[in-house]
Amino acid sequence: MAREFTTVAIVGGGVSGLTAAMLLRRCGVGCVVLERQSRAYVERRQRAGVVEYRGVRMFEQWGLGGLLGSFPADNTLEIRVDGQTRLLGQDAYSRDTVGTLLPQQVLVRNLIAAFLDDGGDLRFESADVTLHGLDGERPVVGYTDAEGNAREIECDFVAGCDGDHGISNVSVPDGALAAYALDYGISWVTILADAPPPQYALMAVGRNGYAGQYARGQHASRFYLQCAPGDLPADWPADRVWEQLKFRLHRPDLRTGPISETEVFPLRSLVREPMSYGRLYLLGDAAHVISPMGAKGMNLALYDAEVFASAVRDFVREGDESGLASYSDMCLARTWKYQEWSQWMSEMLHGMCDTDVFRARLARARFERVASTEIGARYWAEYMTGMG
Ligand code: FAD
Ligand code: PHB
Repeated sequence: MAREFTTVAIVGGGVSGLTAAMLLRRCGVGCVVLERQSRAYVERRQRAGVVEYRGVRMFEQWGLGGLLGSFPADNTLEIRVDGQTRLLGQDAYSRDTVGTLLPQQVLVRNLIAAFLDDGGDLRFESADVTLHGLDGERPVVGYTDAEGNAREIECDFVAGCDGDHGISNVSVPDGALAAYALDYGISWVTILADAPPPQYALMAVGRNGYAGQYARGQHASRFYLQCAPGDLPADWPADRVWEQLKFRLHRPDLRTGPISETEVFPLRSLVREPMSYGRLYLLGDAAHVISPMGAKGMNLALYDAEVFASAVRDFVREGDESGLASYSDMCLARTWKYQEWSQWMSEMLHGMCDTDVFRARLARARFERVASTEIGARYWAEYMTGMG
């Protein structure tokens, strides 16, 4: 079997893999991206909707701001507490540090187009990926290409960008990585619908549970509803979803539209430590999953990609190994900060829905600190913008 050579073999062509690949190309570092799915599939997979301010600055600093389009994402969050509107993110800092409204699949599409236009090597429908020799000098990645041929790539580094259920994090010896998980004991049903987005990201809390509506581009919305653990998508037909959304969001006039996807999932978070093993580096969801409450999963993946690409650049150009040595610690420090923020936010917003009055009052006191003090607003804003 013919063996190929590259500097970085990237497993997974989602946000983390494609961003790492694009940044590596900007530094002249060779890489090959192996993606299991077809191009059409990854370009359709809808998830996140906003690139935070830190991520926007990152793309701009690497000369890639043009990939993001030009729809500012206001940091304002409207929270309806028992129907009463409260606005967060109205301070000067929040106004000056806006992100970009960009559905994840559009970012993925733009990254794919830019990478291929630039001569990048991205191989869709790469099956049966296996990783070998990760603790040696020259790991080898095996896979079956789209035509069914077995192939091998020898490389200096492997970037595991293949999500929570990929092969990267299970390709290391038992015990080399620890996984720490938090189950919130709460489930959400989510729908994507061709329904006009709200003026501001909208959340509602009250005795009937949490509900949220977020822009996905200029014409679609993602909605969330807290639901009973164990519910299935079949328990949430369109009529029930719209009825509950109108009720909990206190918007009887909510504009509805065709639903393209209904999913139920438990709120959970997970962190794998360390984020590297030998010459394998884990990026994005392969290393950490975060509950969607704070909208940080994609944004953490972008951060990992930048830290990784910078570290490889320094090694290739100057033989400087310090970035690679500190990769895991740097990314974990940020991951834990945002896990804490997301958990804090979940406790506050779900707490305000709690039927236990003591807990609900505590959560409201916490909310008041954010909504009515300067220091609370600043804390909120720094994390919303990714500058915390
Ligand atoms: P992925 O996007 O999962 O990409 C992994 C890639 O690897 C995929 O293309 C997959 O096909 C490929 N792959 C998997 N296994 C293999 C293999 N064996 N070989 C080759 N390729 C493989 N984040 C936010 O920031 N804000 C939000 O509002 C937000 N909302 C979300 C809503 C939902 C419903 C969900 C599910 C997630 C949301 N996220 C959000 C999280 C965000 O989507 C993820 O954190 C992000 O996709 C992580 O990017 P990634 O590149 O690490 O992984
Ligand atoms: C989202 O776009 O999904 C989103 C935005 C802000 C949040 C949470 C989710 O706080």
